[in-house]
Amino acid sequence: MSTVPNTQQTQRKLYIESYGCAMNFADSEIIASIMNENGFINTSDELDADVIFLNTCAIRDNAENRIRERLKHLRNNKKSNNDLIIGVLGCMAERLKSKLLEEEKLVDVVAGPDSYRELPKLVAEVDQGGRAINVLLSREETYGDLNPVRLNSNGISAFVSIMRGCDNMCSFCVVPFTRGRERSRDPKSILNEVLELNQKGYKEITLLGQNVDSYLWFGGGPKKEFKSLTTEEQQNSVDFSALLDMVATAVPKMRIRYSTSHPRDITEKVIRTMAKHINICNYVHLPAQSGNTRVLEVMSRNYSREWYMEKISMIRNIIPDCGISSDIIAGFSTETEEEHQDTLSLIEWSQFDFSYMYKYSERPGTPAAKKLTDDIPEDVKSRRLQEIILVQNRMSQFKNSQYIGKTVKVLVEGNSKKSDQDWSGRNDQNVMVVFPKETYKPGDLVEVLVERSTTTTLIGKAIGLTSL
Ligand code: SAH
Ligand code: SF4
Ligand code: F3S
Repeated sequence: MSTVPNTQQTQRKLYIESYGCAMNFADSEIIASIMNENGFINTSDELDADVIFLNTCAIRDNAENRIRERLKHLRNNKKSNNDLIIGVLGCMAERLKSKLLEEEKLVDVVAGPDSYRELPKLVAEVDQGGRAINVLLSREETYGDLNPVRLNSNGISAFVSIMRGCDNMCSFCVVPFTRGRERSRDPKSILNEVLELNQKGYKEITLLGQNVDSYLWFGGGPKKEFKSLTTEEQQNSVDFSALLDMVATAVPKMRIRYSTSHPRDITEKVIRTMAKHINICNYVHLPAQSGNTRVLEVMSRNYSREWYMEKISMIRNIIPDCGISSDIIAGFSTETEEEHQDTLSLIEWSQFDFSYMYKYSERPGTPAAKKLTDDIPEDVKSRRLQEIILVQNRMSQFKNSQYIGKTVKVLVEGNSKKSDQDWSGRNDQNVMVVFPKETYKPGDLVEVLVERSTTTTLIGKAIGLTSL
């Protein structure tokens, strides 16, 4: 029989660990907000927790393997605390559904990305002695009315989700299955969140969506094409360039970034809006995936190599010093050596500042898994990936060396990884910059003279405080 007073019993401690993309990290802040409203307090010490949530990713096989390993370790936590509740949330939960409860005996709660409002109820079910699951996907949920609790925040940069889900069905990708239909969030609630961050002293926000260029607010619900809206809906609708314009105008002293752009949907209007506002950073993340038109077709990306190149030219014409990065997949099903060479040459032609590069990992249930054979041997995938990394590194080195002798504006985020004598932050183009601290502090916008560069970093010395 417990003698602990009720108030203490209700203040149970929650520990959240996030994996995967920025959207998942943003979701964890929504999860924390929901749980906090229901009496849980956050802890950064897993050994102190009553509830541990892993917010998981399913994008590649190794993302899921990491979670399986993590769950093995959590057995010890459960041994030393019998009442500990373990939840697997996010994309892996959505992909595996009840199979996860069958396979991982220590998991008590399984919750998909659209069921976070149900989490307190799911935990209560476990309190009653059961195990609980909710993996329903929604056509409307955006969590737009909730106030995310900033976790592990530096108080300087924050993510703001502007949409959820994805309707694109790229053949390799599991996201449409784990996050459901695409829907846009009410611009009013986006603006409120941005204004509040501004008021709290945040200096930079990143607007998040799987395909921000297809953002379209027309009153809520699953995505529709502009063409299929009524005249009245069209008049009142807000597309991504309009949203960017609104946000940039509302917080002129904040830096604004966004991710991810889709080569098929990116518009000149968006790039012109960037050029118009000094506070929108000159940086576009535009994943190419492959440099070969046939492979892009098999990937269902809906653009060709030439189309992609045109988009790069369009960006560089309007914003000559724009930072551009990409995602690349090595060894997708049926990819030949020549087609792989096209990817290498596209990286070179595009002069990406950096890329996220992956070996293709077949995901069960995706169109590619159903229709194609994962026929590129592992050693060939590895070799192709190595070649891609080599070309990209050479490109990054070249691009970064171009900054030597020039000044860049750096928003100080925190200590550099290598030395606590140096600050680190990013320039407008999203390149990491490191410089001796002197009297500057996190949140300062500092003009830095670049003296040296590596593949990933610019190294320099501060000249003085600056403004956008
Ligand atoms: N919405 C973004 C990407 C989201 S997933 C876009 O359309 O670009 C992030 C990246 O993971 C993708 O760009 C892709 O490069 C990679 N990825 C997705 N599925 C993959 C798979 N099955 N194997 C390897 N990489 C994958
Ligand atoms: Fe996946 Fe394609 Fe959607 Fe990106 S756009 S999340 S790669 S389906
Ligand atoms: Fe992973 Fe889900 Fe993001 S699969 S990359 S966490 S949308």
